[in-house]
Amino acid sequence: MRDGPFAGAGRGPRVDGMDFQEHLATFEDHARRRAGRVEPQPVGGWLPPALIRSIQRFQAGEDGDGTRLLAAAERAGDPVYLAAIRLFEQEEQSHAVRLANVLRYAGAAPIGGDWTKAVFVLVRRGGGLRLELLTLMLAEVVALRYYRALRDGSGDEYVGDVAGRILADEQRHVPFHLDRLRQGFARTPPLGRLAAAAGWWVLMTGATVVVALDHGRALRVLGVSRRQFVADVLSLFHPMVPAVFRRRIGAQPLREVTGTW
Ligand SMILES: [Fe+2]
Ligand SMILES: [Fe+2]
Repeated sequence: MRDGPFAGAGRGPRVDGMDFQEHLATFEDHARRRAGRVEPQPVGGWLPPALIRSIQRFQAGEDGDGTRLLAAAERAGDPVYLAAIRLFEQEEQSHAVRLANVLRYAGAAPIGGDWTKAVFVLVRRGGGLRLELLTLMLAEVVALRYYRALRDGSGDEYVGDVAGRILADEQRHVPFHLDRLRQGFARTPPLGRLAAAAGWWVLMTGATVVVALDHGRALRVLGVSRRQFVADVLSLFHPMVPAVFRRRIGAQPLREVTGTW
């Protein structure tokens, strides 16, 4: 995407009474496009076993019902945001379907669960919408780099196309969540924001290293070293922290504050 993931996020001074109508309209537009599209389901492909195992885990990660996030969004009391979150969840479900198609194409099947997903659920237990989103963002940011690697490095046109379309969705998800997080932390005192930012960095670094270790062989197949993957994910993440936590950032478009990539 030419403008990077922050394009269109945070237009106008709207942090406190932030209007998610624009995000909702975009999600609705993409839902209509999905409904009008028949997903190709080719067969007879081949992928390296390490890559299949890796895609199986990402497929499991995409495949959730989003109950906890939806409940937290419902409690937040903004019907427009809630409608956007419902469509966001549907979009993640469509990723799970597409990755399951990729697995079948390569003669494999979805695995239905992954330990990293269980850890995510555990971390989020007992938290509100902000914790849900901070944790969800770990997966979203990792996904940005992972699907780019899959798009560019699989050597298979169909797999590259699926990964590219998922990546384009993830690039919209990131500013959507950043906008809500920014709103969620707008009234948090400086020390609280500092603690949350520090915690977010720790979680992000830990999650990235774990994914790089866990998916290292697949990443190598895709032409990305573990070290490169970690460095790239953290450099993607770097501008997101001030985008959420820096005070008096509200009236500026995130694109100008954080730069693009
Ligand atoms: Fe996704
Ligand atoms: Fe996503």
